Order: sequence, then C-alpha cells, then structure tokens
Amino acid sequence: MSSRAARFPGRELLGELGAVVPGDQSRQALAEDYIEQRLAADAGPWRVLDLGCGDGASVDRFRSVDPGVRWTGLDLPDSPEVRTRTRRDAGFQTFDGVAIPFPEASFDFVYCRQVLEHVRHPEPLLAEVRRVLAPGGCFAGSTSQLEPYHSLSVWNFTPLGMATLLRSAGLEPVELRPGVDGIALIALRLFGSSPPRWAQRQFDRWWATRSPLNAVIDLYARVGDLDPQAANATKLVLCGAFTFLARASAVVAGTAPVVEDHQGLRAGEGA
Ligand SMILES: C[S@@+](CC[C@H](N)C(=O)[O-])C[C@H]1O[C@@H](n2cnc3c(N)ncnc32)[C@H](O)[C@@H]1O
Repeated sequence: MSSRAARFPGRELLGELGAVVPGDQSRQALAEDYIEQRLAADAGPWRVLDLGCGDGASVDRFRSVDPGVRWTGLDLPDSPEVRTRTRRDAGFQTFDGVAIPFPEASFDFVYCRQVLEHVRHPEPLLAEVRRVLAPGGCFAGSTSQLEPYHSLSVWNFTPLGMATLLRSAGLEPVELRPGVDGIALIALRLFGSSPPRWAQRQFDRWWATRSPLNAVIDLYARVGDLDPQAANATKLVLCGAFTFLARASAVVAGTAPVVEDHQGLRAGEGA
C-alpha cells in the first residue's frame, strides 16, 4: 500500500462506517439509480411511497420500470415544491410531516430524494418509515451534507449522522454513496435561488455525471493507488449530497436494540 493510500482523507469515516461504504466502484451516485436497481430485484407489482414527493415526477421513472407499480406520493400540504405540482395522474396524499397516514408494512419501497434536509423532525419521521415498510423492504434516496440554505432547508447530514439516524429508527444501512461534490453544490448558490440557465445546465451535468472535485478525487485515487472503497469514503467526506440504501430489519420498530456508543453505530457493525 502506498503512503497516500494509508492516509487518504476518507480514512476516519471509513473506520466508522466500514462495509456501509461500498467497494464495488466509486462513481457518483443518484437517488434515481435505486429505482432501476431495486425494482429489478423483484417482479412486483411494487408498493412505493415517495416521501416528500414534491411535484411527483418520480412516478414516471417508477412506471417505466414497473408499469403496475402502486405509487403514492406523500408530502406536506404546502411547500415551494408542492406548489409546482400540476399532475393528476397519480395518487397524492398530504400529512403533518411526521405521522405517515398508512398502516404498518404498507410499502415495499420508501423513496426519499433530497427531502430529509427539509424535514423539521427527521427522527420520528424515520421511525414512521420503518413502521410502514414491510419486513425486508427498503428505504432509499439521497440527502445533503454540504448544501447551503435553499427552499426552507433546515439541516445537513454527514454520512455518519445519516447512518446513525437510520440505525436508531430500526433501519439497517446497506450503503451510502457519494453524489455531487460539496464545492460544486456550494458554488451554485453564488447565483442565488435562480441561477442563469448556463450555470444551472452546467450544474445539472455535474449533478448527474461527475463534478470537478470528484474528478480530482478519481485522479488522486489513481495516482495514490486507492481502492474504490477508499475513493468512495474520500468522496463521502467532501460530497455535497449522498445517496443511501437501508433495509427494514426484522425487529419491530420501537423495540430495536439500540446499543449506543458515542454515535450509536458500532453496536450494529458486522451485522
Ligand atoms: C427539494 S424538495 C424535493 C422534492 C422531490 N423529492 C424531488 O426530488 O424533486 C424537498 C421536499 O421535501 C418536502 N418536505 C419538507 N418537509 C417534509 C416532511 N416532514 N415530510 C415529507 N416531506 C417533506 C417538501 O415539501 C419538498 O417537496
């Protein structure tokens, strides 16, 4: 191992998260990747809850993979994104932001893209996600770590913070993957809430493919002989947003054995 590989920037985070940082490849990830990936795993029809669905656009992607999908969009009664919703061809419900209005085990997949940084009470909401997921069901999406204030956002999460919240809710983190880098996400805000079209287009490309700092980390990984897991951990430390995939464990919500160390993580490692 080269000396750079021994002291790469993601080393401490990897030490905390272990196998939750994937080692298969280190490309930038999107919440949408989980739609194809998860739905391919089972014939369906899938029961999907899009938590914080905004304008409801995800229903098209779900239907393209599973035409029989039972998709429900859930969101607050009002928000900047809810106000943009025009479609009437899918089921939408509103709620108070915490108590998900469905019986337990109602869904196979709770999808949650760029929502948790806007949620006033994430912990009780995640416990509700666990409650409405069928055993073995999955919770997947993305959230922000280094995103400046936007659209009533109230938090940013570190990858370790997210893994800790998931575990506390009885959801077993399967993987966290880096999204767009933090500098790109911060730079976009230099243009305020309505960037010029060229800037938004450039940023959208970075978001969907590979942003500049992630390209630098790829180079650093090649030169320093870092494996994909070390590259992912380094990108996770510096990312603006990251994706998550978690599973509803077999334990009933509320009774999960949360044995906490300082971050509530180590108790479940290796499970
Ligand atoms: C940045 S938008 C993302 C919308 C959509 N998921 C997407 O990817 O286009 C954030 C969304 O979170 C919703 N939101 C805020 N607090 C929420 C809560 N407690 N529960 C569910 N959704 C919430 C907002 O109404 C808004 O639709």
